[in-house]
Amino acid sequence: MKVDGKHFRSLWWNHDAGVLEIIDQRWLPHDMRIQQVGTMQDFANAIREMRVRGAPLIGATAAYGMALAMAENPSNDNIEKAWAFLEETRPTAINLRWALDRCRLHLQPINESERAQAALTLAHEIADEDVEINRNIGINGLEIIRDLAANKTTDEPVNILTHCNAGWLATVDWGTATSPMFHAHDAGINIHVWVDETRPRNQGALTAWELLSHGVPHTYITDNAGGHLMQHGMVDMVIVGTDRTTRTGDVCNKIGTYLKALAAKDNNVPFYVALPSPTIDWTVSDGITEIPIEQRNVDEITHIQGKTNSGTIESVQVSPDGSPAGNPAFDVTPKHLVTGLITERGVSAASAEGLADMFPEFQ
Ligand code: MRU
Repeated sequence: MKVDGKHFRSLWWNHDAGVLEIIDQRWLPHDMRIQQVGTMQDFANAIREMRVRGAPLIGATAAYGMALAMAENPSNDNIEKAWAFLEETRPTAINLRWALDRCRLHLQPINESERAQAALTLAHEIADEDVEINRNIGINGLEIIRDLAANKTTDEPVNILTHCNAGWLATVDWGTATSPMFHAHDAGINIHVWVDETRPRNQGALTAWELLSHGVPHTYITDNAGGHLMQHGMVDMVIVGTDRTTRTGDVCNKIGTYLKALAAKDNNVPFYVALPSPTIDWTVSDGITEIPIEQRNVDEITHIQGKTNSGTIESVQVSPDGSPAGNPAFDVTPKHLVTGLITERGVSAASAEGLADMFPEFQ
């Protein structure tokens, strides 16, 4: 998508330098810093420290990490070593393991002398596929928004609420939850997006920055405002992303998503999840008991980062000295709260049958 009129993906290969470049997202929306990821430690840090973040982007980054590992040492042992080294960087987003498994399966039968090039080609393929998947999620989600717009009796916009950042920064391009929004806006449909700030890391600020850059009307709100807005008829639909969805349709996403789904259910607001197929964990049935929830550093809770009036980016302490803090980063929304899963193939029911019909090759 565009930043100041120039098209960017969230990562790209610098052909001249032969290195991956990323946007270091820790400084957005205030400062767009670009970083080269040149060592295996750089790759681990980029994922663990959330310089890159969002399930699909983590997966694509890991594929480039595997390409670097193969350029350094294309042995079977090093495939396993790189797999384990990268896989432990973040536990919840399944796209990380999906990408590493795909790289391993692809590389094992290939001669060592050809593995470096094969791994790089595969990383490019995974990145390009992600863009195409998200574009199709946008086309499928657009139809839902079009229907809501057609049923409006006033010239009010279709009001969409989103949580966290499932935007282009969380993927290679388009985003998942944002792709229907970008498509609807580009199709001339009058939409407005309520953007949850999403404490503790305020990924909503990234979503707001993306929507602002694309000219999509939006309002930045506290995480606690959504239920109130729904009670007053100010939300027509919710669209969120996902870090891992079970084969039965339970949705794991950024902490707070579950509370939005509960409020949506109580107010008869449709709650949709934008779901790229690499985010489905076909090995898991019960999201609440089986998906590992990342527990992040409590500094993210006790402190908050922002831009000062003088323009510097600083972190300040919010909580009292000595108060213990806790920081579960994700929660699980059970399938019965989900109206539909917007996939690249179409909109599926959040159920084992719905997903099996949509993706029969994985059964
Ligand atoms: O901790 P993050 O910022 O990586 O969490 C991101 C999310 O929860 C997104 O909603 C999810 O990955 C979907 S991104 C298309």
